[in-house]
Amino acid sequence: MPQINDNYLKLKAGYLFPEIGRRVKAFAAEHPAAKIIRMGIGDVTEPLVPAIIAAMHKAVDEMANRATFKGYGDEQGYAFLREAVAKHDFQSRGCDIAADEVFISDGSKCDTGNILDIFGHENRIVVTDPVYPVYVDTNVMAGNTGPLNERGEAQGLVYVPMTAENNFTPAIPAGKADIIYLCSPNNPTGSTLSREALTKWVAYARENNAVIFFDAAYEAYISDPTIPRSIYEIPGARECAIEFRSFSKTAGFTGVRCAFTVVPKTLKGRTKTGEEVEVYKLWNRRHTTKFNGVSYITQAGAAAIYTQEGRQQINATIAHYMTNAKIIRESLTALNMKVYGGANAPYVWLKTPGQTTSWQFFDQLLSHCHVVGTPGSGFGAAGEGYFRLSAFNSRENVNEAMKRIKEQLKV
Ligand code: MLT
Repeated sequence: MPQINDNYLKLKAGYLFPEIGRRVKAFAAEHPAAKIIRMGIGDVTEPLVPAIIAAMHKAVDEMANRATFKGYGDEQGYAFLREAVAKHDFQSRGCDIAADEVFISDGSKCDTGNILDIFGHENRIVVTDPVYPVYVDTNVMAGNTGPLNERGEAQGLVYVPMTAENNFTPAIPAGKADIIYLCSPNNPTGSTLSREALTKWVAYARENNAVIFFDAAYEAYISDPTIPRSIYEIPGARECAIEFRSFSKTAGFTGVRCAFTVVPKTLKGRTKTGEEVEVYKLWNRRHTTKFNGVSYITQAGAAAIYTQEGRQQINATIAHYMTNAKIIRESLTALNMKVYGGANAPYVWLKTPGQTTSWQFFDQLLSHCHVVGTPGSGFGAAGEGYFRLSAFNSRENVNEAMKRIKEQLKV
Protein backbone atom coordinates (compact mmCIF):
# COMPACT_ATOMS: atom_id res chain seq x y z
CA MET A 1 0.00 0.00 0.00
CA PRO A 2 1.30 3.47 -0.80
CA GLN A 3 1.75 5.94 1.99
CA ILE A 4 -0.77 8.76 1.86
CA ASN A 5 -0.36 12.41 2.78
CA ASP A 6 -1.43 12.19 6.44
CA ASN A 7 -2.09 15.92 6.52
CA TYR A 8 -5.36 15.35 4.67
CA LEU A 9 -6.63 13.43 7.68
CA LYS A 10 -6.32 16.59 9.79
CA LEU A 11 -8.95 18.36 7.66
CA LYS A 12 -12.65 18.59 8.43
CA ALA A 13 -14.52 15.88 6.53
CA GLY A 14 -15.82 18.11 3.72
CA TYR A 15 -15.04 21.47 2.17
CA LEU A 16 -17.61 24.09 3.21
CA PHE A 17 -19.56 24.55 -0.02
CA PRO A 18 -19.97 20.87 -0.97
CA GLU A 19 -21.16 20.33 2.63
CA ILE A 20 -23.82 23.02 2.20
CA GLY A 21 -24.72 21.50 -1.17
CA ARG A 22 -25.16 18.10 0.50
CA ARG A 23 -27.53 19.51 3.13
CA VAL A 24 -29.55 21.44 0.55
CA LYS A 25 -29.84 18.34 -1.64
CA ALA A 26 -31.14 16.32 1.29
CA PHE A 27 -33.70 19.04 2.11
CA ALA A 28 -34.80 19.24 -1.53
CA ALA A 29 -35.25 15.47 -1.69
CA GLU A 30 -37.54 15.61 1.36
CA HIS A 31 -39.41 18.70 0.12
CA PRO A 32 -39.67 18.34 -3.66
CA ALA A 33 -42.20 21.20 -3.95
CA ALA A 34 -39.94 23.75 -2.23
CA LYS A 35 -38.67 26.49 -4.55
CA ILE A 36 -35.20 26.85 -3.09
CA ILE A 37 -33.33 30.13 -3.62
CA ARG A 38 -29.57 29.69 -3.44
CA MET A 39 -27.67 32.59 -1.88
CA GLY A 40 -24.92 30.43 -0.42
CA ILE A 41 -21.93 29.87 -2.68
CA GLY A 42 -20.94 33.01 -4.55
CA ASP A 43 -21.69 31.70 -8.00
CA VAL A 44 -22.66 34.08 -10.77
CA THR A 45 -26.07 33.77 -12.42
CA GLU A 46 -25.99 36.27 -15.29
CA PRO A 47 -24.82 35.18 -18.75
CA LEU A 48 -21.53 36.18 -20.33
CA VAL A 49 -21.82 39.62 -21.93
CA PRO A 50 -22.09 39.97 -25.77
CA ALA A 51 -18.53 41.32 -26.21
CA ILE A 52 -17.09 38.21 -24.53
CA ILE A 53 -19.35 35.88 -26.48
CA ALA A 54 -18.37 37.55 -29.80
CA ALA A 55 -14.65 37.25 -28.97
CA MET A 56 -15.08 33.60 -28.04
CA HIS A 57 -17.03 32.84 -31.22
CA LYS A 58 -14.28 34.45 -33.28
CA ALA A 59 -11.67 32.40 -31.42
CA VAL A 60 -13.64 29.22 -32.09
CA ASP A 61 -13.66 30.05 -35.80
CA GLU A 62 -9.89 30.57 -35.69
CA MET A 63 -9.52 27.13 -34.15
CA ALA A 64 -11.48 25.68 -37.07
CA ASN A 65 -8.97 26.92 -39.63
CA ARG A 66 -5.49 25.41 -40.15
CA ALA A 67 -3.94 28.85 -40.72
CA THR A 68 -5.16 30.27 -37.42
CA PHE A 69 -5.44 27.09 -35.33
CA LYS A 70 -3.54 27.14 -32.02
CA GLY A 71 -2.14 24.26 -30.03
CA TYR A 72 -0.23 24.82 -26.81
CA GLY A 73 0.11 28.48 -25.90
CA ASP A 74 2.62 29.93 -23.46
CA GLU A 75 1.88 28.43 -20.06
CA GLN A 76 1.93 31.92 -18.54
CA GLY A 77 -0.77 33.13 -20.92
CA TYR A 78 -1.04 34.83 -24.31
CA ALA A 79 0.79 38.16 -24.56
CA PHE A 80 -2.42 39.92 -25.68
CA LEU A 81 -4.11 39.11 -22.36
CA ARG A 82 -1.09 39.66 -20.11
CA GLU A 83 -0.50 43.05 -21.74
CA ALA A 84 -4.16 44.06 -21.41
CA VAL A 85 -4.14 43.09 -17.72
CA ALA A 86 -0.90 44.95 -16.96
CA LYS A 87 -2.07 48.06 -18.80
CA HIS A 88 -5.69 48.33 -17.67
CA ASP A 89 -5.67 46.75 -14.21
CA PHE A 90 -2.34 48.13 -13.00
CA GLN A 91 -0.45 50.70 -15.09
CA SER A 92 -3.59 52.81 -15.60
CA ARG A 93 -3.86 53.04 -11.81
CA GLY A 94 -0.22 54.00 -11.37
CA CYS A 95 0.92 50.48 -10.38
CA ASP A 96 4.29 49.49 -11.77
CA ILE A 97 3.42 45.99 -13.02
CA ALA A 98 4.79 44.58 -16.27
CA ALA A 99 2.99 42.12 -18.55
CA ASP A 100 5.53 39.38 -17.87
CA GLU A 101 4.80 39.60 -14.13
CA VAL A 102 1.20 38.49 -14.85
CA PHE A 103 0.56 34.72 -14.91
CA ILE A 104 -2.76 33.68 -16.46
CA SER A 105 -4.32 30.65 -14.78
CA ASP A 106 -7.58 28.74 -14.41
CA GLY A 107 -8.58 30.17 -11.04
CA SER A 108 -7.60 32.17 -7.99
CA LYS A 109 -8.74 29.41 -5.69
CA CYS A 110 -6.22 27.08 -7.34
CA ASP A 111 -3.48 29.71 -7.34
CA THR A 112 -3.86 30.63 -3.66
CA GLY A 113 -3.38 26.95 -2.89
CA ASN A 114 -0.69 26.24 -5.49
CA ILE A 115 1.48 29.16 -4.39
CA LEU A 116 2.42 27.18 -1.29
CA ASP A 117 4.43 24.82 -3.51
CA ILE A 118 7.19 27.41 -3.74
CA PHE A 119 7.41 28.27 -0.03
CA GLY A 120 8.94 26.26 2.79
CA HIS A 121 7.27 24.65 5.77
CA GLU A 122 8.73 26.72 8.57
CA ASN A 123 7.01 30.00 7.90
CA ARG A 124 4.90 31.86 10.43
CA ILE A 125 1.62 32.24 8.60
CA VAL A 126 -1.03 34.84 9.40
CA VAL A 127 -4.67 34.46 8.36
CA THR A 128 -7.78 36.41 9.32
CA ASP A 129 -10.72 34.91 11.17
CA PRO A 130 -13.19 34.58 9.47
CA VAL A 131 -11.21 33.50 6.45
CA TYR A 132 -11.76 32.07 2.95
CA PRO A 133 -11.36 28.38 3.93
CA VAL A 134 -9.03 27.57 1.03
CA TYR A 135 -6.15 29.49 2.65
CA VAL A 136 -6.31 27.35 5.78
CA ASP A 137 -7.13 24.00 4.18
CA THR A 138 -4.29 24.24 1.66
CA ASN A 139 -1.83 25.00 4.45
CA VAL A 140 -3.09 21.95 6.31
CA MET A 141 -2.69 19.84 3.15
CA ALA A 142 0.83 21.17 2.64
CA GLY A 143 1.84 20.13 6.15
CA ASN A 144 2.31 23.70 7.36
CA THR A 145 0.10 23.23 10.42
CA GLY A 146 -0.65 20.88 13.27
CA PRO A 147 -4.07 19.31 13.75
CA LEU A 148 -7.25 21.37 14.14
CA ASN A 149 -8.06 22.42 17.71
CA GLU A 150 -11.54 22.38 19.31
CA ARG A 151 -12.32 25.77 17.70
CA GLY A 152 -11.53 24.28 14.29
CA GLU A 153 -8.32 26.33 14.00
CA ALA A 154 -5.30 24.79 12.35
CA GLN A 155 -2.60 24.82 15.00
CA GLY A 156 0.45 26.79 14.11
CA LEU A 157 -1.37 29.41 12.05
CA VAL A 158 -1.76 32.90 13.54
CA TYR A 159 -5.40 34.00 13.39
CA VAL A 160 -6.28 37.70 13.50
CA PRO A 161 -9.97 38.34 14.20
CA MET A 162 -12.19 40.42 11.95
CA THR A 163 -15.38 41.26 13.75
CA ALA A 164 -17.86 44.09 14.10
CA GLU A 165 -15.84 45.23 17.15
CA ASN A 166 -12.80 46.08 15.00
CA ASN A 167 -14.89 47.15 12.03
CA PHE A 168 -13.67 44.03 10.19
CA THR A 169 -10.18 45.48 9.92
CA PRO A 170 -7.68 42.85 11.07
CA ALA A 171 -5.11 44.18 13.52
CA ILE A 172 -1.41 43.63 12.88
CA PRO A 173 -0.43 40.65 15.06
CA ALA A 174 2.25 40.70 17.72
CA GLY A 175 5.56 39.19 16.65
CA LYS A 176 6.96 38.20 13.32
CA ALA A 177 5.25 36.93 10.18
CA ASP A 178 6.55 35.32 7.02
CA ILE A 179 3.34 34.84 5.03
CA ILE A 180 0.20 36.96 5.41
CA TYR A 181 -3.14 36.31 3.70
CA LEU A 182 -5.33 39.36 3.09
CA CYS A 183 -8.54 39.45 1.09
CA SER A 184 -10.10 42.77 0.07
CA PRO A 185 -12.97 43.15 -0.78
CA ASN A 186 -13.30 40.47 1.81
CA ASN A 187 -14.81 37.07 1.40
CA PRO A 188 -16.84 36.42 3.55
CA THR A 189 -17.49 39.70 5.43
CA GLY A 190 -17.88 42.00 2.43
CA SER A 191 -15.63 44.56 4.15
CA THR A 192 -12.70 46.32 2.48
CA LEU A 193 -9.25 47.41 3.61
CA SER A 194 -8.72 51.16 3.54
CA ARG A 195 -5.56 52.64 2.06
CA GLU A 196 -4.39 53.44 5.58
CA ALA A 197 -4.94 49.87 6.83
CA LEU A 198 -3.28 48.34 3.78
CA THR A 199 -0.34 50.72 4.13
CA LYS A 200 0.18 49.42 7.69
CA TRP A 201 0.16 45.82 6.48
CA VAL A 202 2.67 46.59 3.74
CA ALA A 203 4.94 48.32 6.29
CA TYR A 204 4.65 45.32 8.64
CA ALA A 205 5.42 42.87 5.81
CA ARG A 206 8.48 44.88 4.77
CA GLU A 207 9.78 45.12 8.35
CA ASN A 208 9.49 41.33 8.63
CA ASN A 209 10.66 40.45 5.12
CA ALA A 210 7.29 38.75 4.79
CA VAL A 211 5.09 38.22 1.74
CA ILE A 212 1.44 39.25 1.58
CA PHE A 213 -0.83 37.02 -0.48
CA PHE A 214 -3.37 39.64 -1.53
CA ASP A 215 -6.61 38.15 -2.82
CA ALA A 216 -8.41 40.80 -4.87
CA ALA A 217 -10.88 38.47 -6.62
CA TYR A 218 -13.75 40.90 -5.86
CA GLU A 219 -11.90 44.10 -6.83
CA ALA A 220 -14.41 44.90 -9.60
CA TYR A 221 -17.10 45.43 -6.95
CA ILE A 222 -15.35 48.41 -5.36
CA SER A 223 -17.17 51.66 -6.10
CA ASP A 224 -15.61 53.83 -3.37
CA PRO A 225 -12.67 55.57 -5.11
CA THR A 226 -10.69 55.84 -1.85
CA ILE A 227 -10.37 52.05 -1.46
CA PRO A 228 -7.30 50.47 -3.11
CA ARG A 229 -8.16 48.02 -5.87
CA SER A 230 -4.68 46.58 -5.95
CA ILE A 231 -2.07 46.20 -3.24
CA TYR A 232 0.44 47.66 -5.71
CA GLU A 233 -1.24 51.04 -5.21
CA ILE A 234 0.64 51.05 -1.89
CA PRO A 235 4.27 52.14 -2.27
CA GLY A 236 6.67 49.32 -1.46
CA ALA A 237 4.21 46.51 -2.20
CA ARG A 238 6.25 45.30 -5.19
CA GLU A 239 8.83 44.03 -2.70
CA CYS A 240 6.36 42.21 -0.46
CA ALA A 241 3.19 41.15 -2.25
CA ILE A 242 1.70 38.64 -4.64
CA GLU A 243 -1.77 39.55 -5.94
CA PHE A 244 -4.48 37.11 -7.00
CA ARG A 245 -7.26 38.22 -9.34
CA SER A 246 -10.01 36.40 -11.13
CA PHE A 247 -12.39 36.83 -14.05
CA SER A 248 -14.91 34.61 -12.20
CA LYS A 249 -16.79 37.34 -10.40
CA THR A 250 -15.58 40.21 -12.59
CA ALA A 251 -16.89 38.77 -15.85
CA GLY A 252 -19.03 35.74 -14.97
CA PHE A 253 -16.27 33.18 -15.58
CA THR A 254 -16.98 30.77 -12.70
CA GLY A 255 -17.80 28.09 -15.26
CA VAL A 256 -15.39 29.30 -17.93
CA ARG A 257 -12.28 29.45 -15.68
CA CYS A 258 -9.72 32.21 -16.05
CA ALA A 259 -7.76 34.19 -13.48
CA PHE A 260 -4.30 35.63 -12.97
CA THR A 261 -1.61 36.00 -10.36
CA VAL A 262 0.89 38.84 -10.25
CA VAL A 263 4.37 38.03 -9.00
CA PRO A 264 6.70 41.06 -9.15
CA LYS A 265 10.30 40.34 -10.06
CA THR A 266 11.38 42.47 -7.09
CA LEU A 267 9.89 40.05 -4.53
CA LYS A 268 12.54 37.96 -2.77
CA GLY A 269 12.47 34.86 -0.59
CA ARG A 270 15.34 33.13 1.17
CA THR A 271 16.73 29.62 1.19
CA LYS A 272 17.22 27.61 4.39
CA THR A 273 20.76 28.87 4.46
CA GLY A 274 19.71 32.49 4.00
CA GLU A 275 20.51 33.22 0.34
CA GLU A 276 18.09 35.51 -1.51
CA VAL A 277 16.01 34.00 -4.32
CA GLU A 278 13.60 35.67 -6.77
CA VAL A 279 10.17 34.28 -5.98
CA TYR A 280 9.18 35.06 -9.60
CA LYS A 281 11.60 32.47 -10.95
CA LEU A 282 10.20 29.74 -8.73
CA TRP A 283 6.59 30.53 -9.63
CA ASN A 284 7.49 30.61 -13.31
CA ARG A 285 9.16 27.21 -12.92
CA ARG A 286 6.19 25.75 -11.10
CA HIS A 287 3.62 27.22 -13.49
CA THR A 288 5.40 26.05 -16.64
CA THR A 289 5.93 22.58 -15.19
CA LYS A 290 2.55 21.83 -13.63
CA PHE A 291 0.23 23.87 -15.86
CA ASN A 292 -0.35 23.96 -19.60
CA GLY A 293 -2.12 27.29 -19.86
CA VAL A 294 -5.72 28.40 -20.23
CA SER A 295 -7.43 27.70 -23.55
CA TYR A 296 -7.06 30.28 -26.32
CA ILE A 297 -10.85 30.63 -26.59
CA THR A 298 -11.13 31.47 -22.91
CA GLN A 299 -8.27 33.97 -22.98
CA ALA A 300 -9.72 35.64 -26.08
CA GLY A 301 -13.01 36.00 -24.18
CA ALA A 302 -11.22 37.40 -21.12
CA ALA A 303 -9.37 39.98 -23.23
CA ALA A 304 -12.72 41.32 -24.49
CA ILE A 305 -13.44 42.82 -21.09
CA TYR A 306 -10.63 45.30 -21.70
CA THR A 307 -12.38 46.78 -24.73
CA GLN A 308 -14.63 49.78 -24.19
CA GLU A 309 -17.70 47.80 -25.13
CA GLY A 310 -16.77 44.83 -22.95
CA ARG A 311 -16.02 47.06 -19.96
CA GLN A 312 -19.39 48.83 -20.23
CA GLN A 313 -21.20 45.52 -20.49
CA ILE A 314 -19.53 43.87 -17.50
CA ASN A 315 -20.03 47.04 -15.46
CA ALA A 316 -23.76 46.70 -16.10
CA THR A 317 -23.71 43.12 -14.79
CA ILE A 318 -21.71 44.18 -11.73
CA ALA A 319 -24.21 47.00 -11.13
CA HIS A 320 -27.01 44.43 -11.28
CA TYR A 321 -25.39 42.32 -8.54
CA MET A 322 -24.63 45.40 -6.44
CA THR A 323 -28.27 46.51 -6.64
CA ASN A 324 -29.13 43.04 -5.33
CA ALA A 325 -26.68 43.62 -2.47
CA LYS A 326 -28.36 46.94 -1.69
CA ILE A 327 -31.80 45.32 -1.67
CA ILE A 328 -30.55 42.62 0.72
CA ARG A 329 -28.90 45.15 3.01
CA GLU A 330 -31.87 47.49 3.11
CA SER A 331 -34.45 44.72 3.53
CA LEU A 332 -32.60 43.12 6.44
CA THR A 333 -31.81 46.46 8.07
CA ALA A 334 -35.54 47.28 7.94
CA LEU A 335 -36.07 44.07 9.94
CA ASN A 336 -33.69 45.43 12.59
CA MET A 337 -30.95 43.00 11.68
CA LYS A 338 -27.31 44.03 11.98
CA VAL A 339 -25.93 43.96 8.48
CA TYR A 340 -22.39 44.55 7.17
CA GLY A 341 -20.66 44.50 3.81
CA GLY A 342 -22.55 44.58 0.54
CA ALA A 343 -21.42 48.14 -0.33
CA ASN A 344 -18.12 47.44 -2.15
CA ALA A 345 -18.50 43.66 -2.28
CA PRO A 346 -21.15 41.22 -3.46
CA TYR A 347 -21.49 39.62 -0.01
CA VAL A 348 -23.73 40.73 2.83
CA TRP A 349 -22.62 39.61 6.28
CA LEU A 350 -25.27 39.65 8.94
CA LYS A 351 -25.41 39.03 12.66
CA THR A 352 -27.72 36.15 13.46
CA PRO A 353 -30.58 37.10 15.79
CA GLY A 354 -30.02 36.65 19.56
CA GLN A 355 -28.01 33.58 20.46
CA THR A 356 -28.85 31.71 17.24
CA THR A 357 -25.74 29.95 15.95
CA SER A 358 -24.72 30.21 12.32
CA TRP A 359 -25.80 26.65 11.50
CA GLN A 360 -29.10 27.05 13.40
CA PHE A 361 -29.80 30.14 11.30
CA PHE A 362 -28.88 28.18 8.17
CA ASP A 363 -31.42 25.48 9.11
CA GLN A 364 -34.12 28.03 9.97
CA LEU A 365 -33.68 29.93 6.74
CA LEU A 366 -33.68 26.74 4.70
CA SER A 367 -36.64 25.09 6.37
CA HIS A 368 -38.88 28.17 6.82
CA CYS A 369 -37.92 30.37 3.84
CA HIS A 370 -36.32 27.83 1.48
CA VAL A 371 -33.39 30.23 1.22
CA VAL A 372 -29.79 29.00 1.34
CA GLY A 373 -26.98 31.08 2.81
CA THR A 374 -23.56 30.32 4.24
CA PRO A 375 -23.03 29.92 7.99
CA GLY A 376 -20.38 32.31 9.26
CA SER A 377 -18.80 29.64 11.44
CA GLY A 378 -17.87 27.78 8.24
CA PHE A 379 -15.30 30.54 7.70
CA GLY A 380 -13.75 30.30 11.16
CA ALA A 381 -14.49 30.55 14.87
CA ALA A 382 -14.92 34.34 14.77
CA GLY A 383 -17.62 33.84 12.11
CA GLU A 384 -19.88 32.12 14.66
CA GLY A 385 -23.07 34.12 15.09
CA TYR A 386 -22.77 35.55 11.59
CA PHE A 387 -24.21 34.52 8.26
CA ARG A 388 -23.31 35.33 4.64
CA LEU A 389 -25.76 36.04 1.84
CA SER A 390 -24.50 36.26 -1.72
CA ALA A 391 -25.84 38.94 -4.06
CA PHE A 392 -25.15 36.80 -7.13
CA ASN A 393 -28.69 36.07 -8.26
CA SER A 394 -31.56 37.24 -10.41
CA ARG A 395 -33.51 40.28 -9.16
CA GLU A 396 -36.63 38.15 -8.99
CA ASN A 397 -34.97 35.64 -6.66
CA VAL A 398 -33.51 38.32 -4.41
CA ASN A 399 -36.87 40.08 -4.07
CA GLU A 400 -38.61 36.80 -3.41
CA ALA A 401 -36.02 35.72 -0.81
CA MET A 402 -36.34 39.04 1.02
CA LYS A 403 -40.15 38.76 0.96
CA ARG A 404 -40.00 35.29 2.47
CA ILE A 405 -37.52 36.34 5.17
CA LYS A 406 -39.67 39.35 6.05
CA GLU A 407 -42.79 37.20 6.37
CA GLN A 408 -40.93 34.70 8.52
CA LEU A 409 -39.39 37.26 10.87
CA LYS A 410 -42.70 39.09 11.27
CA VAL A 411 -44.40 35.93 12.62
C1 MLT B 1 -17.58 31.67 -2.23
O1 MLT B 1 -18.78 31.50 -2.26
O2 MLT B 1 -16.95 31.94 -1.19
C2 MLT B 1 -16.84 31.56 -3.50
O3 MLT B 1 -17.68 31.28 -4.55
C3 MLT B 1 -15.86 30.52 -3.41
C4 MLT B 1 -14.87 30.60 -4.50
O4 MLT B 1 -14.80 31.59 -5.24
O5 MLT B 1 -14.12 29.64 -4.59
